[in-house]
Amino acid sequence: MSALSSALPDFPWDLLEPAKAIAAAHPDGIVDLSVGTPVDPVPQAVRQALADASDAPGYPLTAGTPRLRAAIAGWLARACGASGEFGVLPTIGSKELVAWLPTLLGVGPGDVVVIPSVCYPTYEMGAKLAGAEVIRADSLTAIGPDRRVKLIWINSPSNPTGKVLPTDHLRKVVDWGRERGVVVVSDECYLSLGWDTNPVSVLSDEVTGGDYTGVLAVHSLSKRSNLAGYRAGFVGGDPALIRELLAVRKHAGMIVPAPVQAAMVAALDDEAHVAEQRARYAARRDILRTALTKAGFEISQSEAGLYLWSTRDEDCWATVDALARRGILAAPGAFYGPAAAKHVRIALTATDERVAAAAGRLADW
Ligand SMILES: Cc1ncc(COP(=O)(O)O)c(C=O)c1O
Repeated sequence: MSALSSALPDFPWDLLEPAKAIAAAHPDGIVDLSVGTPVDPVPQAVRQALADASDAPGYPLTAGTPRLRAAIAGWLARACGASGEFGVLPTIGSKELVAWLPTLLGVGPGDVVVIPSVCYPTYEMGAKLAGAEVIRADSLTAIGPDRRVKLIWINSPSNPTGKVLPTDHLRKVVDWGRERGVVVVSDECYLSLGWDTNPVSVLSDEVTGGDYTGVLAVHSLSKRSNLAGYRAGFVGGDPALIRELLAVRKHAGMIVPAPVQAAMVAALDDEAHVAEQRARYAARRDILRTALTKAGFEISQSEAGLYLWSTRDEDCWATVDALARRGILAAPGAFYGPAAAKHVRIALTATDERVAAAAGRLADW
């Protein structure tokens, strides 16, 4: 038996432990801006829905309850501007789907998965778990005529760069995929966090015209609704692809727990808490952006999403170390691809008190 883990790299966050230890030794405590894990409360209505559904002795539906399916469909229509007939499926957070999607869709050895040149590492892990090869490319011309390509990931707003893909770019990728029978998957888990630009969903009528053939959009409630701890995500798009995913996931036991399904309905049916959370992140973003700029950082892209993609034009590990000595933990660009070796990713996910502490420390740079 060969160890599957041997095909995978070290878990990136383990490599950050030495810097974390340095930052944690700061007399006023660490300001952890590395992982991007939400710190604000779960909305009360969502907690109530979870509690109300806690008497759940039976197996839940892999496809989701009719109520959840309707809530997802309604949200995709409203927030993504999708007016056609699409399929929907809840997922156990979106990371598991990202990691297993190539496998679930039958992508395997000899096939190629295209991922952005600088991106969330799990796209590559998913390809590796399936035994497929990865090409990093940001433009269709960079991919070339490789007939082995079976799936292309796009991510807008991007983690880590905060870049937003314009409508015409999305349309070109969808057309390109359809011409070649390549599945186009758009990870849109930061869609509700546009700052300087309004992010567009791949499911929007402007992109697909209501025809979702070969197209999937992956969403998450982790950041939008502070539900990272609940593991609540979903995917929508091509009904045939969704049927295929459901068929395999039923066999594999990839089921969202019933109380979480109920909590997802409450989260999807409410936008007030989303606006409230957005306002918290907007304020933290302003403070951190100003402090970083004054400390000599350049902020690249970052027009949307949960991060400030920052550089001091030096190796990212040197920047991580310099920040750690000031008690601030950032994520090195190297986690996100070879083209990102001079950037660090600064998350907006810390309390107001910790963000103020970070700004104070940056002022003494
Ligand atoms: C681009 C992207 N996709 C997917 C995920 C996974 O999120 P979750 O599994 O919490 O839904 C993350 C988490 O940070 C992310 O940044």
